[in-house]
Amino acid sequence: MSNEYVKLTDPDGRQLTSLPIVKGTMGPSVLDISKLYHDVGCFTVDPGYSMTASCASGITYIDGEQGVLLYRGYPIEQLAEQSSFLEVTYLLWYGELPNEKQLQQFTQEVVHHTMINESLRLFYQGFHHDAHPMAVLVGVVGSLSAFYHDYLDIHDPRSRELAALRLVAKMPTIAAAAYKYTMGQPQIYPRNSLSYTGNLLHMMFAMPTQAFEIDPVAERALDLLLVLHADHEQNASTSTVRLAGSSGANPFACIAAGIAALWGPAHGGANEAVIRMLQEIGDVKHIPQFLARAKDKNDPFRLMGFGHRVYKNFDPRAKIIRETCYEVLGKLADTKDPLFDLALKLEEIALKDEYFIERKLYPNVDFYSGIIYRALKIPMSMFTAMFAVARTAGWMAHWMEMMADPEQRIGRPRQLYTGPVTRDYVPLNERSKDDPH
Ligand code: CMC
Repeated sequence: MSNEYVKLTDPDGRQLTSLPIVKGTMGPSVLDISKLYHDVGCFTVDPGYSMTASCASGITYIDGEQGVLLYRGYPIEQLAEQSSFLEVTYLLWYGELPNEKQLQQFTQEVVHHTMINESLRLFYQGFHHDAHPMAVLVGVVGSLSAFYHDYLDIHDPRSRELAALRLVAKMPTIAAAAYKYTMGQPQIYPRNSLSYTGNLLHMMFAMPTQAFEIDPVAERALDLLLVLHADHEQNASTSTVRLAGSSGANPFACIAAGIAALWGPAHGGANEAVIRMLQEIGDVKHIPQFLARAKDKNDPFRLMGFGHRVYKNFDPRAKIIRETCYEVLGKLADTKDPLFDLALKLEEIALKDEYFIERKLYPNVDFYSGIIYRALKIPMSMFTAMFAVARTAGWMAHWMEMMADPEQRIGRPRQLYTGPVTRDYVPLNERSKDDPH
């Protein structure tokens, strides 16, 4: 705790309270308002928590003005180029990059848990044939809590680690099975000799009738997307996981809650929404008309894949993904995608438009990720499920950090009440007969 304070005074200059300034290692400091109600009798209000730090965390750092993203201090650009998803998962959980032996052991531990209980496989049959994979994921991941509840002691660090390993290991199996179910194809068991990403591709695209060869370009591109999506500090889904977990809930149920939050088009669902939007635009000549709609306050349409709560500059992940689009589309022979050209043009035009310049609206991570998924033949309905696979690493890092924090308390925001003031109950026969509705 620092010894710097901000004084709060009334209009006559009388001091009401002093708010300690708490400094982090980088980025803006925060004002500790925990004594505010006691001293002043007020809460604070901050819709959408734009200005509120909900916790202290040492996992991920974002400088939204400069477009910087660090996992445990390492720039995302370096991790994207040199690291792999499982290495990044290790980094997020344990705070340091693993040495060779540690990475090997960690990989083995993950691989050990890739199977799901056979009875869990039957759950899929209960879903409607065209269920959205995210709906299936919410249900199946939540139901893992029924398999691992009694044995799980959330107050024991090794037990928490085991839950995290199980989740990261099983997410590709669960997501791929959701895809197979919607395709009416048999589920494919994990093959543990493959890489994490290779296994995911295998379980999605292999068939019992013929061998499936994993394209190393596709494997590397998907791994890169997982690295880029692995964590993003206190976003809506991570905050949901933390809030659910703060009550001591089962971690598998908490992750199901996170998946539900991720699904929305303002969050992880944007990758799917971007492709739908590009398909709707269809041609460069229609771009002005869609931009006009995005700027019209009376039209709910927004330019999907544009804007971010924190980034007021380029989302560094979007830059990396755009470059990867060139590489992937160049290397995978049959994948020239007209939607990529359309997306590039849309970006170019939007970034010159006063509306987007003024509001600092830049392409975010989801603007180009769908183009790569399409090139990898991953269907649109699975885009957000891929995001969920990746973000499970971050969600579990945050859940474990929170559970180990001695200051952890149940998350319980307050409100500004705007309902009726106190009034007396009116017996039914004395109430007005008019129907106000
Ligand atoms: N298209 C048109 N106008 C926009 C857009 C957009 N995509 N994004 C923000 N604005 C406008 C908004 O109307 C507002 O204008 P004004 O000041 O005149 O009222 C201003 O910009 C500020 O927007 P906001 O809604 O207050 O910003 P926010 O921080 O609450 O929302 C956001 C952030 C990401 C939800 C929003 O930018 C958005 O809806 N973008 C499209 C959906 C999207 O791409 N989401 C993915 C986010 S990144 C990945 C992830 O989080 O999973």
